[in-house]
Amino acid sequence: MADKMKTIVLGVTGSIAAYKAAELASRFTGEGFRVDVIMTESAQQFIAPLTFRNITGRPVVTTMWDIDSEFSVEHVALAEAADVVLIAPATANIIAKMACGMADDMLSCTVLATKAPVVIAPAMNDNMWSNPFTRENVAKLTKRGFTFVGPARGRLASGKMGLGRLTGLDDIYGITLQALGRKGDLAGKHIVVTAGGTQEPVDPVRCLTNHSSGKMGYAVAEAARNRGAEVTLISAPTALAAPPGLKIIGVKTAEDMLKAVQEAVKKADALVMAAAVADFRPVKASSQKIKRQDLNELTIELEKTPDILAQVKGSFIRVGFAAESHDVVANAKEKVKRKGLDLIVANDITEMDCGFGADTNRVTIIDSKGKVENLPLLPKGEVADKILDKLITLLR
Ligand code: CTP
Repeated sequence: MADKMKTIVLGVTGSIAAYKAAELASRFTGEGFRVDVIMTESAQQFIAPLTFRNITGRPVVTTMWDIDSEFSVEHVALAEAADVVLIAPATANIIAKMACGMADDMLSCTVLATKAPVVIAPAMNDNMWSNPFTRENVAKLTKRGFTFVGPARGRLASGKMGLGRLTGLDDIYGITLQALGRKGDLAGKHIVVTAGGTQEPVDPVRCLTNHSSGKMGYAVAEAARNRGAEVTLISAPTALAAPPGLKIIGVKTAEDMLKAVQEAVKKADALVMAAAVADFRPVKASSQKIKRQDLNELTIELEKTPDILAQVKGSFIRVGFAAESHDVVANAKEKVKRKGLDLIVANDITEMDCGFGADTNRVTIIDSKGKVENLPLLPKGEVADKILDKLITLLR
């Protein structure tokens, strides 16, 4: 499981987007991380250190020369304590300083002295971002293993549209967790995860689908990413934002998903089929919209879709899901056998707090020997980690 007691050193530099760093600090602190903030002098023109102090409950470092600070006595203390250094927002100036190996303030000293991964979320004027100096600096830092997230295109401080805006906080958050888990217990493993409900076309405007939100599959994909895995997420349409740091392949139908899975598992250590694959599809989709006024009733002939899990076999671990409305364990055990699975994750979709679209799930994990483990009601992220704990024992 991702270690929540890790230390995130959050470097804040002088950009109009500095206020957004407060939201990041709040989110990481809320998740139980220790967040130590270093502010450059110019950052303090945009947001007060007190904001971060109150959010994190920790002293905020604003200078190298505060003799009372627990960190400034030894100017590399934070560099050593850091499990990850995140600089958000990062100006062109701090990027240039890092690229030159400069160490003339607490943040640049910390970056030069740390062995932890460094994640940089740039925010600057679009001309500064596209300037060859900055391009070279970014290339140099990337080559040395620094991770950039963003910038995004959008309205800049100058009022014009361009590439240079601090990217979305969800992306910064996800990439930071990925950096934290780089050496996790799934490092070096490639996990393929499917998610969402497939859509089988009836005509150009209608389809057969199901109530799957995709949340469980996305949670597994993100949890695997945060434990060091390389993750391919094959997703049927969902309303969820694309998690950063994954290879995402969008598909619509069961047939598309089958092809994408067949390709992805060629280099996979495990396949986690969390997708709700439609079991039936129209034998023939109409190429034109079926007009209501032409018909009094409509019968659609259906045929079975391919059973992806049953078809895709190889030397990788195969994990299935079973969303059941009755006889949950018996049905799930039967599926383990029928599909030759290593694990199945079963849940009762008639329960309010664990049905489709819920943020929590109460699942039963059953292995190929029929061993049954009932888990309590948990947030889907925690269910995902429990599934991965089991998966790791099989990968070993
Ligand atoms: N699955 C699949 N391909 C399908 C249908 C299901 O790969 N065409 C996978 C699902 O992703 C899931 C597992 O098989 O991991 C079990 O899916 P489920 O719908 O519960 O089982 P079915 O095989 O469809 O059986 P039934 O409809 O009888 O419950």
